[in-house]
Amino acid sequence: MGTWTWLFVIGQALSTLLLLQASEEIIPRVTIQYGSPERTVSRFEADGLNYFTTLLLSKDGSTLYIGGRESLFSLNSSNFMSPEDQLQLEWKADDRNKKECFSKGKDSERDCQNYIKILLPVNSTHLYTCGTYAFSPNCTYIRIADFSLETSSSGNVLVEDCKGRCPFDPKYKTTAIMVDGEMYAGTISNFQGNDPIIYKSHDSRISLKTENALNWLQDPVFVGSAHIPESLPQGNPVGDDDKVYFFFSESGTEFDFFENTIVSRIARVCKGDLGGDRVLQRRWTSFLKAQLLCIRQEDGFPFNVLQDMFVLTPGEKHWNSTIFYGVFTSQWNRGGAGGSAVCAFNMHDVQKAFDGLYKEVNRETRQWYTYTHSVPEPRPGACITNKVRNMKINSSLQMPDRVLNFIKDHFLMDSAIRSNPLLLQPQMRYQQISVQRVRGLTQTFDVMFLGTDDGRLHKAVSVAGKEHIIEEIKLFKNSQPVEELLIDHNKGLVYVSSRSMVLQIPVSNCSMYRTCGECILARDPYCAWSKKGCHTVPHHTHMHEAHLKHWVQDVENADTEKHCKNFNNTISAGRFGPVTEDPLVPCEKVVLDSKAQNSLSCKLLSNLANRLWIHNGKEINSSYLVLQNGDLILLSSPERLGTYECWSLEDDFRKLMVKYCVEPEGVMKKTTTTRSPKTEVVIQSVSVIDKVVNSSSFVSSKSHSSKSYWYEFLIMTALFIVVVVTATLIVLYKKRNQMKSILKTADHADKQNKSLRKNGKPAESLPLNGTSAPIPASDHKGYQTLNDNYIISTPVHDPVNMNAVLASEKRPLNVKDTHVEISPSCQRPRVRLGSEIRDSVV
Ligand SMILES: *[C@@H]1O[C@H](CO)[C@@H](O)[C@H](O)[C@H]1NC(C)=O
Ligand SMILES: *[C@@H]1O[C@H](CO)[C@@H](O)[C@H](O)[C@H]1NC(C)=O
Ligand SMILES: *[C@@H]1O[C@H](CO)[C@@H](O)[C@H](O)[C@H]1NC(C)=O
Ligand SMILES: *[C@@H]1O[C@H](CO)[C@@H](O)[C@H](O)[C@H]1NC(C)=O
Ligand SMILES: *[C@@H]1O[C@H](CO)[C@@H](O)[C@H](O)[C@H]1NC(C)=O
Ligand SMILES: *[C@@H]1O[C@H](CO)[C@@H](O)[C@H](O)[C@H]1NC(C)=O
Ligand SMILES: *[C@@H]1O[C@H](CO)[C@@H](O)[C@H](O)[C@H]1NC(C)=O
Ligand SMILES: *[C@@H]1O[C@H](CO)[C@@H](O)[C@H](O)[C@H]1NC(C)=O
Ligand SMILES: *[C@@H]1O[C@H](CO)[C@@H](O)[C@H](O)[C@H]1NC(C)=O
Repeated sequence: MGTWTWLFVIGQALSTLLLLQASEEIIPRVTIQYGSPERTVSRFEADGLNYFTTLLLSKDGSTLYIGGRESLFSLNSSNFMSPEDQLQLEWKADDRNKKECFSKGKDSERDCQNYIKILLPVNSTHLYTCGTYAFSPNCTYIRIADFSLETSSSGNVLVEDCKGRCPFDPKYKTTAIMVDGEMYAGTISNFQGNDPIIYKSHDSRISLKTENALNWLQDPVFVGSAHIPESLPQGNPVGDDDKVYFFFSESGTEFDFFENTIVSRIARVCKGDLGGDRVLQRRWTSFLKAQLLCIRQEDGFPFNVLQDMFVLTPGEKHWNSTIFYGVFTSQWNRGGAGGSAVCAFNMHDVQKAFDGLYKEVNRETRQWYTYTHSVPEPRPGACITNKVRNMKINSSLQMPDRVLNFIKDHFLMDSAIRSNPLLLQPQMRYQQISVQRVRGLTQTFDVMFLGTDDGRLHKAVSVAGKEHIIEEIKLFKNSQPVEELLIDHNKGLVYVSSRSMVLQIPVSNCSMYRTCGECILARDPYCAWSKKGCHTVPHHTHMHEAHLKHWVQDVENADTEKHCKNFNNTISAGRFGPVTEDPLVPCEKVVLDSKAQNSLSCKLLSNLANRLWIHNGKEINSSYLVLQNGDLILLSSPERLGTYECWSLEDDFRKLMVKYCVEPEGVMKKTTTTRSPKTEVVIQSVSVIDKVVNSSSFVSSKSHSSKSYWYEFLIMTALFIVVVVTATLIVLYKKRNQMKSILKTADHADKQNKSLRKNGKPAESLPLNGTSAPIPASDHKGYQTLNDNYIISTPVHDPVNMNAVLASEKRPLNVKDTHVEISPSCQRPRVRLGSEIRDSVV
C-alpha cells in the first residue's frame, strides 16, 4: 500500500512537470516592429529623465495631462506631437526640502525630487495633484485654464500637506480616486515606509483611515481603485450604498508556513461610512478584504502577485455585471524569469465572497481560522441598506459597539474569489492592462490591451473561451517597462507611458490588412471587410442594417472560405483549390551569383502562417535548403533557375507573398539595363551556414514547429515514466525491508501531524487555492509546501534562487531577507519525501 502511494506521488509529480511544459504560449498573430509604418505611433518626450507615470485624460478627451518628475505636462490629444500645443508646468521641491532629504540619508538624485504620484480632476476648473516633494509630500491645485499652480492671495503656491494620500518614497505605488469631491487613496504614508493606509479625506468632513494597530493591511502594494455605484438604480428595494474598491497585493499572513507568501486582495469600503462613534472613531467601519486567486486550471499553480487591475463597468446602472480584469505574476517562478496571467473576476463572485463567512485571527498565535459562530446584526462591514435603516440605524455612527468590535478582528473574508487565466504567458511579463468593450458587427467583445515589462503592447480578444493575441507592437527602440496604459474610448486611442516617453497609438489600423482573408483572419473586432477593403467597423446610428449587409467579420471562427469566396480581389484559393498564377504579384528578377551563397527572402503575413516555397510550379522537397527564418538558399546549379513563389498559408487562406525569377549569371548585363527601377534584387549573402536546416521540416510544419512535436514528446515522456516507475519498483523491491521502516516513520509523522491539528481549532492549512491536495512538483516550491495534507519536506528549496525571485518582484516592503523555511510556530515532523522525488527524477 505504502509503495503504491509513493509511486502515485512520483507519477503525479511527473505529470505536473509535463503540464508545466504543456501550458502553451499564445503567439501574437502579427508583430509590428519599432518604427514600422503599419502603425502610427506618436511620441512625446521631454528633456531629461521624466518618469512619466501619471496620466489623466480630460473628460472630453481633448487634453492629456502627464505627471512626471518635478514637472507636469498638458498635451493636445488631436495634435499630440506639435510643440506649440505642449504646456509644461514645473513643480520642483524646495532646495530646503531637498537638502533636508539628503541629510536624512536619501539619494539626492533619485529620491530627493518631486515625483508626481497623484493627478485627479476636482471640478471643471481645477485639477488636484500630489508629489513626493523630496520625502515631504505635498498636494496642490492646478488651474486648468492656464495650466498653472493655484496661488494663495499672498501669491504663494497653495500647498497642502498630503499625509495619508501620497507616499514619501517615490518607489511606492499609490492609488487614488476622486468620488463626489472626496479623495480616496491607498498608499504608504510615513517616512519609514511602514505605515500603509487607505484614507479618505475631505476638507469639511472627518477623514477616515484603516486601523494600523489591527493589521488590516500587511505590507500592501496598491495597484488600483474603483468606484462602483451600487446604490443605483435610485429607489431600489435594497438601498445599498456606493462602494470604493481597492486592489493590492500584500503578505498573506493567513498562510503561516512562510514569512513571505504574497496574496492578492480586493478590499472595499462604503461611500457613506462615517466611522464609529465610540469604537473605531475616524476609522473605517466597513473595511473588508478578500483574496483574489488566479490559478492555472491544469495544476492549480497560483499567479499570486497582482500587477494591475482594470475594472470594466458596462454603464452605471449595470454595475452588477462589472468585470475585474487583473494581470498577475507569480512569486514562484523559476529564476525570476517567468510569466504572467490575465484573470477576470465577476461582480457576482466578489459579492458572494463579501457576503460569505469571515476569517478570524487569534491575536496570540497569529493563526487564522474560519469563523463559523454567529455573526452580530446588522452584518459587520456591510453598508447601510434599507434593512439596516429599518433597524433605526441611519449611519455608521449609530452602529452598535458589538458590530464594530467584531469588525476589528474579522476584516478578512474566508473564501477567495477565484478565476482561471484567460490568457497565460509562460515567458512574458504583463505589467499593465486596459480593456475596451468593442461593438463588432454583430456582437460585443472585450479587447484587452496589455503592456509588458520589456515595452511591448499586446492587443488580445477572448472569444468562445479561446484567446487570440491580435497584434504585438514593439513600442520602444530600447526595451523599457510600460508604466501606465490609458484608453480614450471615444477617439480610439491608447496612451502608453514609460519612464522616458508617452506614446499615442490608434487602437487599430484596419487598412494594414489588404485582402478579405487577412481582414477575417486578423480577428480584430475593430475591423471588418466591406467590398473594397478592410475598414473600421462603423458605429454611426444612422448606418442601417441594410448598409452593413456587405460587411463581414468573423472574430470567432475566422472562416475565410465562407466569407471571402465572393470577393475576387482576394487571393484565397481555399484549402483544396489550385495554387494559380497571380498576375498582381510581379516577378522579381534575381541573378545567381556563382561565387556567393544567395538566398531568397519571404516575409509572411502572420506569425501563425506557414510558408510554402514553390519552384517552377512544384512544392520544394528536401533537397532545397531553407533557413530558420524562412529564407530559401539558392545553389548555383542550372536546375535551380526558374520561378520561385512563396506562399503564406493560414487556415484555409493562402496568399502569394513574393515571386522571384532566377536567372543565370551571364544574363546579368542585359537585364540590368532593362530592369524596371522598381523591382529590387533581393540577393542576400548568407554567412551563417550553420543555421541552415533541411527544407523538408519546414515545408509543412508550423513556423513555431515545437508545437507539432507535442505528441511525440508526450509519448516519449510516457515511456520515460514507465521506465522510471519500473526502475523504482525494482529498487523498492530490492530494498523492501529498508523501505518498510522509512514508510513506517512516514505514517507515524502523518498521524502526529493530524493529532497536532486536532488540538483547538483547525489551523489554516490549505494552499492558496484552498482546494484539496495539489500535486507536488519541484517547480512549485513554496506554495505547494503550504499544503500539509501531503507529507512534504522543506529542504528542497534553494534559498539563492528564491531570493532572486523575490527580489525580482520588486516589492519595496519585503526587503527582509526571505529564506524559505517553516515558520517556528508550526514545526511539525516531516518526511523528506519531496527531496526524494527531486533526487530521483530531476
Ligand atoms: C496603416 O497601415 C498602412 C499599411 O501598412 C499604412 O500605409 C498606414 O499609414 C497605416 N495607417 C495608420 C493610421 O497607422
Ligand atoms: C488641439 O488641436 C486641434 C487641432 O490643431 C485644435 O483644433 C484644438 O483647438 C486644439 N485644442 C486645444 C485645447 O488647444
Ligand atoms: C474648484 O475647486 C477649487 C479648489 O477647491 C475651487 O477654488 C474652485 O472655486 C472650484 N471651482 C468650481 C467651478 O467649483
Ligand atoms: C510642502 O511645501 C512647502 C513649501 O512649498 C514646504 O515648506 C513643506 O515642507 C512641504 N511639505 C510639507 C509636508 O508640508
Ligand atoms: C443585475 O441586476 C439586474 C436588475 O437590477 C438583474 O436583472 C440582473 O440579472 C443582474 N445581473 C447579474 C449578473 O447579477
Ligand atoms: C433616521 O432617519 C430617519 C429619517 O431620516 C429619522 O426619522 C430617524 O429618526 C433617524 N433615526 C435615528 C436613530 O437617527
Ligand atoms: C471573379 O473574376 C472572374 C474572372 O476573373 C469572373 O469570371 C467572376 O465572375 C468574378 N466573380 C465575381 C463574384 O466578381
Ligand atoms: C526533389 O525534386 C527534384 C526535382 O524537383 C528531383 O529531381 C529530386 O529527385 C527530388 N529529391 C528528393 C529527395 O525527393
Ligand atoms: C538534408 O537531408 C538530406 C537527406 O534527407 C541529407 O543528406 C542532408 O545532409 C541534410 N542536410 C542538412 C544540412 O542537414
